[in-house]
Amino acid sequence: MSKTLIISNRLPVSIKKEGDKLTFTPSTGGLATGLGSIYKTGSNLWIGWPGLYINKKEEKESITNSLQEENMLPVFLTEKEIKEFYEGFSNETLWPAFHYFNQYVVYEQALWEAYVRVNQKFANEVIKAAEPSDTVWVHDYQLLLLPQMVREKLPDISIGFFQHIPFPSYEAFRQLPWRRELLYGMLGADLLGFHTYDDMRHFLSAVNRLAGISYSQGEVIVDSRPVMVDAFPMGIDYDRYADAAALPETLEREKRYRSALGEQKLILSMDRLDYSKGIPQRLAAFELFLERHPEFKGEVSLLLIVVPSRDNVGMYKELKETIDEMVGRINGKYGRMNWMPIHYFYRSYPLEALSAFYRMANVALVTPMRDGMNLVCKEFIASKLDQKGVLILSEMAGSAKELSDAILINPNNINQVAEVIHQALVMPIDEQIKRNSVMQKSLKRYSIHHWVDIFMSQLAVIKEKQKALFTKKVDAATMKNLKAAYQSASHRLIFLDYDGTLMPFTDNPMLVCPDETLIALLKDLTANKKNKVVIISGRGKNVLEEWLGAFPVDLVAEHGGCYKEKGKDWEMVKKLKDDWKKDIGGWLKLYVDRTPGSFVENKEYSLVWHYRKVETGLGELRAREIISHLKHLSANENLQVVEGNMIVEVKRTEINKGRAASKWLKKNAHDFVLSIGDDFTDEDMFKMMPETAFTIKVGSAASEAKYSVKSPEEVRKMLRELITEN
Ligand code: UDP
Ligand code: G6P
Repeated sequence: MSKTLIISNRLPVSIKKEGDKLTFTPSTGGLATGLGSIYKTGSNLWIGWPGLYINKKEEKESITNSLQEENMLPVFLTEKEIKEFYEGFSNETLWPAFHYFNQYVVYEQALWEAYVRVNQKFANEVIKAAEPSDTVWVHDYQLLLLPQMVREKLPDISIGFFQHIPFPSYEAFRQLPWRRELLYGMLGADLLGFHTYDDMRHFLSAVNRLAGISYSQGEVIVDSRPVMVDAFPMGIDYDRYADAAALPETLEREKRYRSALGEQKLILSMDRLDYSKGIPQRLAAFELFLERHPEFKGEVSLLLIVVPSRDNVGMYKELKETIDEMVGRINGKYGRMNWMPIHYFYRSYPLEALSAFYRMANVALVTPMRDGMNLVCKEFIASKLDQKGVLILSEMAGSAKELSDAILINPNNINQVAEVIHQALVMPIDEQIKRNSVMQKSLKRYSIHHWVDIFMSQLAVIKEKQKALFTKKVDAATMKNLKAAYQSASHRLIFLDYDGTLMPFTDNPMLVCPDETLIALLKDLTANKKNKVVIISGRGKNVLEEWLGAFPVDLVAEHGGCYKEKGKDWEMVKKLKDDWKKDIGGWLKLYVDRTPGSFVENKEYSLVWHYRKVETGLGELRAREIISHLKHLSANENLQVVEGNMIVEVKRTEINKGRAASKWLKKNAHDFVLSIGDDFTDEDMFKMMPETAFTIKVGSAASEAKYSVKSPEEVRKMLRELITEN
């Protein structure tokens, strides 16, 4: 039976050592608490670090045995690895870079090298534990290289990757010296998931700009393997929090805490110690609120819970000191004998305690500067069984995209936060109930179980798609059939597109005249009298004449607008009206004026707007604009708008490669037909081919063709093999 392997840096339980005694406690952080309730089914396995340096062999063995019973496999890290990989590259380089704290990012080659080594260490464990039919699910920024490392050893295995923290904009990501390696590491996965649409489009834009891979509908093609990228906002185990809020232990705790704290209203602030959480800014806003609304002194307290995290990392240590200092100062300034503005705890709590805090709080103040998702705010809403309470939430948290019924704030706007604290404290109960019931409904529906199901089913979808494409690839058996058909035929018709089929694309489309290998290939292909070779291209006739006129081939230019049989003169399809060119040409010129690097090519039957040299992103944006305008303009003119590789072409509908190819099929006797092409315009040709023809698409996009090959290089190899006698 196949299994799912979850791999994350931190296991859902962490080991603590008191003297010689080892204890296991649940890990904190959204990844561990979110997935903690779902991995135990079947023979699934969670691979990760138990959170502590373990030296002794016997201790390692005993930990491994205890974890095994719970479907977990530990990866032990050395002290140096903890320092360089975990505290270093993961939390001093990637964490600040991905949360837009650029000033905190440490760029050190030695840390990067440790990151590569430890990712490989995790990969080795996965490779040992996984069967080819298993599913590997890699989590988070500590293991960005893992998908590709696993793919290298297990090329066909299903690999999902989910990033729990933000993916920054290209501008921030490009600062990293190892940006390409990181991207290619991630692209080893079949499905890449992010919490929000923004994270997903940032990732796609980085892939586009740094790896030069374009995308369409969230899909990128990596070495002819389609990889899907999508947004999957992570939910919580709703029932777990709703049920905990009804437990007698929770109610009993609430009572205890209440009698210790007094009857004043409570504002809850709860996060791991992290500068991304905006704790000092939150304290400043609370202070400003007390200043502005002195009537609330004695009436409300802030319950400030900070969970220890990464406290060996310099910036975290400094943050802890800042918080300690601010709390001391505010309490000293405003506190009274019978009232404390802030109740501050630096420790972690079990679920029943968290649940009691959520129940007691009138307001939850969740104001991160940046957060991938933030689960605390979701847990607060789920714990409000009476639906009373107000959530103040930062726009910079992924969860703000779903929880629009919270009071949304900009955490940098201390004034605004101070004001909404007041607004929350005086919000009418009806309104609280109304807002919370909407949010509860959505959180129930989009629970963690739903999240896992959707992610896994999308992974299955992309895997199926890959399989379907794979079966279409020209493999040894297809090659054998093709060759047999070729050898037994005496009238062969061979249609070949030029750009992207016989020649690869380059930055300058005018520089792709046939190279030596292609020249030799065309010579040999046409030397056989049984072969009729037709080069069928979208290019203008002059350039085709210049490059290919000397070969004994037939030429079709402008998608069929002009053509020439070998040894004869060029002919054109009957003159078509071209007054449309004036209007549309003038209009395309405006786009050239607005878009440096673009130009218009005027062909006999069409106009082409080229944007290969335009700034990445801008070209695509303008192409979209042009297409949507042209659709409207061209409707009455019998014109067709075609998108090609970095071009938009407007041409008469009467002209297409399908019509052109049928002329040859009608005129020439044939008992073998081969047609190869790479883009949208070649689809017209594939559609017109007889049932028995071999139609081959270059690249892996959806196609009418029966088979596919990867690249022009493979096309050449295939043709060479076809004509080689053996
Ligand atoms: N949490 C915990 N113990 C505590 C305080 C918090 O386990 O003492 C949990 C909390 O319930 C939540 C998680 O830690 O599930 C924090 O996740 P979140 O996504 O809010 O932030 P992250 O720590 O992942 O940045
Ligand atoms: C965030 C990250 C997790 C991480 C957690 C706790 O939730 O997304 O990957 O495990 O913080 O951080 P820690 O460094 O203690 O594992």
